[in-house]
Amino acid sequence: MTKVVVVTSGKGGVGKTTSTAALGAALAQQGKKVAVVDFDVGLRNLDLVMGAERRVVYDLINVAQGDAKLQQALIRDKRLPNLFLLPASQTRDKDALTEDGVRAVIGELRDKFDWVLCDSPAGIERGATLAMRFADVAIVVANPEVSSVRDSDRIIGLLDAKTEQAEKGGRIEKHLLLTRYDAGRAGRGEMLSIDDVLEILSIPLIGIVPESEDVLRASNMGSPVVLHNSSSAPARAYGDAAQRLCGADLPMNIPSDRKGILGRLFGRRAA
Ligand SMILES: Nc1ncnc2c1ncn2[C@@H]1O[C@H](COP(=O)(O)OP(=O)(O)OP(=O)(O)O)[C@@H](O)[C@H]1O
Ligand SMILES: [Mg+2]
Repeated sequence: MTKVVVVTSGKGGVGKTTSTAALGAALAQQGKKVAVVDFDVGLRNLDLVMGAERRVVYDLINVAQGDAKLQQALIRDKRLPNLFLLPASQTRDKDALTEDGVRAVIGELRDKFDWVLCDSPAGIERGATLAMRFADVAIVVANPEVSSVRDSDRIIGLLDAKTEQAEKGGRIEKHLLLTRYDAGRAGRGEMLSIDDVLEILSIPLIGIVPESEDVLRASNMGSPVVLHNSSSAPARAYGDAAQRLCGADLPMNIPSDRKGILGRLFGRRAA
């Protein structure tokens, strides 16, 4: 059965778009038929991270308003034939997206795909609530810092109150994806510990993605990190998270401070 997933966070800039692209590509690599949908009307970033910005003709709002067919707006990935992007509009005002329009588009995507990943805009306003409205599963993206965790907590409240699942008396499945985790800073107590974050948010952990230049390099090349450098630590973390999303029970790999350890060893030898 199709799963509609919202990738959400509250706080901006924590890694939602990066994660949507990486998880979408990882699921497609596993043979699933996947659509990634950009709900960030006005900002539109997912097409850049996917390397499809020059191929955008129609967008989510065109389809939601009936001005274009879904098939006309979907962009097939050049690397993975079963990965598709439904881009956001860059120009129109955010109110152009209505709940009925989103319901229709998500309904049609459910008929055609195994996984539909919705990249939410930041904040807790209309755009974010529309992105989560028809989801079955939420991936709450957080960085291990107080402001991000506090906003994620608010988002969890909204997921339990404002989604269609919640209104029907059900519960949306929620997973925490910790991103931009810096083991060195965590070791020095400059970031919240993983245990602290888990205790505050109390939703199950689906992955820990380390802070890594591979992510920046990949997005500069217009490629999800799992395709750009599949052996890199963030790519492996996203690959495992995608498998967990499909129900696999894998041990959690906690990123370690290898550079820090080597640095300390080297420092000791030099001393
Ligand atoms: N694991 C990581 N390591 C290093 N940089 C990262 C990592 N994850 C994301 N970034 C960088 O952080 C920035 C924000 O990421 P991204 O655009 O995915 O966040 P977002 O939550 O979608 O932001 P917004 O709320 O503005 O939509 C980008 O420059 C991205 O390349
Ligand atoms: Mg984004």
